Amino acid sequence: MTDEIKKIERAAKAEIPKAKTADELQALKIQYLGRERGALTLILRGLKQLPEKDRAGVGKEANRLRDFLESLFEKRGRELETQIIESTLKKERIDVTRPGVRQKRGHLHPHTIVLREIENIFGSMGFEVAEGPEVETEYYNFDALNIPAEHPARDMWDTFWLRSNQKEIRNQKSEIRNSKERLLLRTHTSPVQIRYMEKHNPPLRIIAPGRAYRYEATDASHEFQFYQVEGLMVDKNVSIANFKAVIEEFFSRLFGTRVKTRLRPSFFPFVEPGFEVDITCTSCTKLKIKNQKSKIRCGVCKGGGWLEIAGAGMIHPNVFKAAGYNPKHWQGFAFGMGLDRIVMMKYKIPDIRLFHSGDLRFLKQF
Ligand code: PHE
Repeated sequence: MTDEIKKIERAAKAEIPKAKTADELQALKIQYLGRERGALTLILRGLKQLPEKDRAGVGKEANRLRDFLESLFEKRGRELETQIIESTLKKERIDVTRPGVRQKRGHLHPHTIVLREIENIFGSMGFEVAEGPEVETEYYNFDALNIPAEHPARDMWDTFWLRSNQKEIRNQKSEIRNSKERLLLRTHTSPVQIRYMEKHNPPLRIIAPGRAYRYEATDASHEFQFYQVEGLMVDKNVSIANFKAVIEEFFSRLFGTRVKTRLRPSFFPFVEPGFEVDITCTSCTKLKIKNQKSKIRCGVCKGGGWLEIAGAGMIHPNVFKAAGYNPKHWQGFAFGMGLDRIVMMKYKIPDIRLFHSGDLRFLKQF
């Protein structure tokens, strides 16, 4: 019996400290101390059959072994527990010194960024922001701007005409002039001039940013949907010199460098005189300084040093008449510039089609 006890002790001493998991340990506990078939339990149970003289000695041994085994199990149990705690601590350790993970946020579209700057600059010069509809009537887009039907100047704007629903139009008759009911996608933001003047008295200064549409093929610098920023200033004494000062100040502040303008005579039916506005190329002044000797031709202005950026002119008397102003009392200038082109220059974007490509790799850069 004593041998048997020794054997159990040796085996247990070898096995218990090697148990790798709580389950393994539990299995061993059952194997040695289990109430039904535990090795030691069987011995204790067998004491009764022993001769009386041996009983006390063996019993003592067996009890000692039970206490010993229990302490082994407890010790190993504690070890396993600390192991688990330590490994979880290691795995789930938080390194508070690590830099945080930047959360992904939405972006403003480059159009929006630049438009806000534009609105701020003009705002500081006393210009308010006005808006008009993109679905426009023939009257506001053309006739009121001194471009009657059949006038060849209409060919300047390739128009998306809309198949209009006559019934709807009849309901809105107060808004839309009787004989000018044809609808279109506005080909420029100039109709906002008329809409604004109809509702407001001079003097006034506004810009009118928004989408315009032209029935044209697309390429790197043309889209059938694009953005314009219209400008209008009306007062008793407004001259081309005022316009030049305003527009030069505007572009200089927008591009953060002194910009000069050049006015070339041109024709738009709603202004007289009319001109194209060129500004000095901002990307190539820099280029010229950096590579004074190299013959690199600026890709933005094609080496000419000037960039065509807007159409402008002094308001035509017929436009004032259409809006209900007396052309003898009021003067004004108007301009219309392409927002896309300005944004492309500011951020050196090579293709207008990127704006609405929906490509996040493009958008994330702003
Ligand atoms: N509306 C003209 C265009 O889109 C630009 C312009 C606006 C010209 C105002 C003169 C005055 O071509």
